[in-house]
Amino acid sequence: YEEDFTEKGPNYEQKRWEEEHVGAAIMKFGAKDAKQKAKEKQKVKEYDYIVDEEIEFVQALQLPGTRKDKDREPEISEEERKKMSIQETRKSLPIYKFRDDLLAAIEAHQVLIIEGETGSGKTTQLPQYLYEGGYTEGGMKIGCTQPRRVAAMSVAARVAQEMNWKLGNQVGYSIRFEDCTSERTIIKYMTDGMLLREFLSEPDLASYSVMIIDEAHERTLHTDVLFGLVKDIARFRPDLKLLISSATLDAEKFSEFFDDAPIFRIPGRRFPVDIYYTKAPEADYLDAAVVSVLQIHVTQPPGDILVFLTGQEEIESSNEMLQERTKKLGTKIKELIILPIYANLPSDMQSKIFEPTPPGARKVILATNIAETSLTIDGIKYVIDPGFCKQNSYNARTGMESLIVTPISKASANQRAGRSGRTSAGKCFRLYTAWAYKNELEDNTVPEIQRTNLGNVVLLLKSLGINDLLHFDFMDPPPHETLVLALEQLYALSALNHKGELTTLGRRMAEFPVDPMLSKMILASEKYRCSKEILTVTAMLSVNNAIFYRPKDKVVHADTARQNFFRPGGDHITLLNVYEQWEETGFSTQWCYENFIQHRSMKRARDIRDQLEGLLERVEIEVVSNPGDSIGIRKAVTAGFFYHTARLDKTGNYKTVKHQQTVMVHPNSSLFEDRPRWVIYHELVFTTKEFMRQVIEIENSWLMEVAPHYYKSKELDDKSSRKMPKNTGKAREDVTRTY
Ligand code: CDP
Ligand code: MG
Repeated sequence: YEEDFTEKGPNYEQKRWEEEHVGAAIMKFGAKDAKQKAKEKQKVKEYDYIVDEEIEFVQALQLPGTRKDKDREPEISEEERKKMSIQETRKSLPIYKFRDDLLAAIEAHQVLIIEGETGSGKTTQLPQYLYEGGYTEGGMKIGCTQPRRVAAMSVAARVAQEMNWKLGNQVGYSIRFEDCTSERTIIKYMTDGMLLREFLSEPDLASYSVMIIDEAHERTLHTDVLFGLVKDIARFRPDLKLLISSATLDAEKFSEFFDDAPIFRIPGRRFPVDIYYTKAPEADYLDAAVVSVLQIHVTQPPGDILVFLTGQEEIESSNEMLQERTKKLGTKIKELIILPIYANLPSDMQSKIFEPTPPGARKVILATNIAETSLTIDGIKYVIDPGFCKQNSYNARTGMESLIVTPISKASANQRAGRSGRTSAGKCFRLYTAWAYKNELEDNTVPEIQRTNLGNVVLLLKSLGINDLLHFDFMDPPPHETLVLALEQLYALSALNHKGELTTLGRRMAEFPVDPMLSKMILASEKYRCSKEILTVTAMLSVNNAIFYRPKDKVVHADTARQNFFRPGGDHITLLNVYEQWEETGFSTQWCYENFIQHRSMKRARDIRDQLEGLLERVEIEVVSNPGDSIGIRKAVTAGFFYHTARLDKTGNYKTVKHQQTVMVHPNSSLFEDRPRWVIYHELVFTTKEFMRQVIEIENSWLMEVAPHYYKSKELDDKSSRKMPKNTGKAREDVTRTY
């Protein structure tokens, strides 16, 4: 078993393991498992509360990666780790031993693929080594892209700390709507989307000596587009060094794409991970995750827990559940520190997850996919993996895009499991069966470029002068029809002309780091003389689902407060109303608190709004206010979002106008009860049904006014003036329940 691993590498082992060993291993470990469980059960007994809902796991096998003891790095105990100085910690990372070899390899090759286990130090150390190696001489910058905002921020903060620099000076980060860099910045972390935008102002990346495309294996849309762009630039900028760094996945593929660039492998430090599966599928994985956390907490030796959830909502509700249950158990159990981490979490709370666990306590981190490879948290010994993540899904035929909770891939599952064995042996509890793992999970996650709307990227590439998109050098090209649809949509928005060339409007739209529909809406506000209001609406939509706060013990109050903000016209007008009232109070925190509004989301909306206002100046649009004109505001929204039109049909259902898809108004919408005949929605979310979130009422005649070359008047014919029956409050309860 281990021989094979050392000779042929982890990939081989993994495959064999998946193909042959899952079934056999369960049987083999079954006996031992039963004994162990009996022992553990005894331990738990006193906590009846937990025993009641105990989840049964079967141990299947170990995650490949176990090395022979003599090759293995000694385990560093948590106590020792805490005593280490920051410089000692740097030196203890697996990458440290390869510092000089790495610098030599970078010197010798223009493009280098760097592959290393998550947590080996690629993201935090490489830029520092490059700095020490002289790559920032003459004021040149080292850039490093990250697929996720939180990762860019937190890693930059970490490097600032390690270098004893002030964040935002020599080392900084740049994410959408937030630039924390200065002229002195020489190490710059940024989201992949921000680097794409930098191409607009600096097409040859002249101010960079090195560009690191990090977390390449994540294959986000923006990273994939960057691959093509940086590959091209490297050809005419021989002095630019290009590093493609990834977790232990796909390195060969990257090498192939970059003309057989050499691969530098950083051998990982991995400890054995025992994998456990549930005996039967879990109906409610959230609940199962919470129970498992408590189960681990009372039965397992010290070590922190990492739980993978799909998003903020799940994280918040499991957080509440855990708080509640631990409170009930009181002093019967040791302290459990519950820490959430997701994209919208404010940065002061983000840094908490890296703080060491106090003696005697245990940390449980409730994270999204972000902790899969982008962020490494030391001290994790237990991973709970429900097996889901939230993914974009796009139907190129209908142009409908929605976020869906989807099963993860085997590659993801193994990355997740690996997070528990980084500093010592670990355990991973999968809340699905071994059978499901083997038969239901795909091998790899489909790259985002193949399952998302490309409008944004196409507009950007067009503004970079790349006209022939069908022949752009994509690592995995997007489906032809998705590309064509993006071109069609941009044409309908008048961003492209009939020859597919960028129009003046399109060029102005590209100035805004938002979706083409939003940027069109912003530009249309000039005509309807309501740019001030539209800026606010755009900013509020950008944080939309985090405005209203609904604590469990005050739902009635919170709902009443929310309904008091409702204004005729729909949700966009309601959001505008919230912002304007807040503005009138002088941006008061107290006011937010009293009205069940999330203050930090409002602050973020205000920041975004300020940024957008600056961009509006760049495209020479005056900030004009037209406060009472709900129609003008809604027409501007329609000018951008005419794609998202739905009509109430005779049967009392909403259908999208172009594709006759059935959609429903989200129960949180101000239009849920009113049900006007024609509506425009901001986005669709799929849970039990396709729900339209953020909806406004429009008139069909506006569609002809704003999108004459998209709609035919026949499609918009509307003879029936019959009013449909309204939804009642009861209906809201019904939908909310299934939702
Ligand atoms: O990029 P890679 O996954 O190879 O590793 P890294 O992100 O550079 O992490 C190296 C070490 O820095 C890990 O031990 C992390 O826990 C630590 N780190 C940290 O303490 N705080 C951060 N904000 C980021 C990383
Ligand atoms: Mg990294």
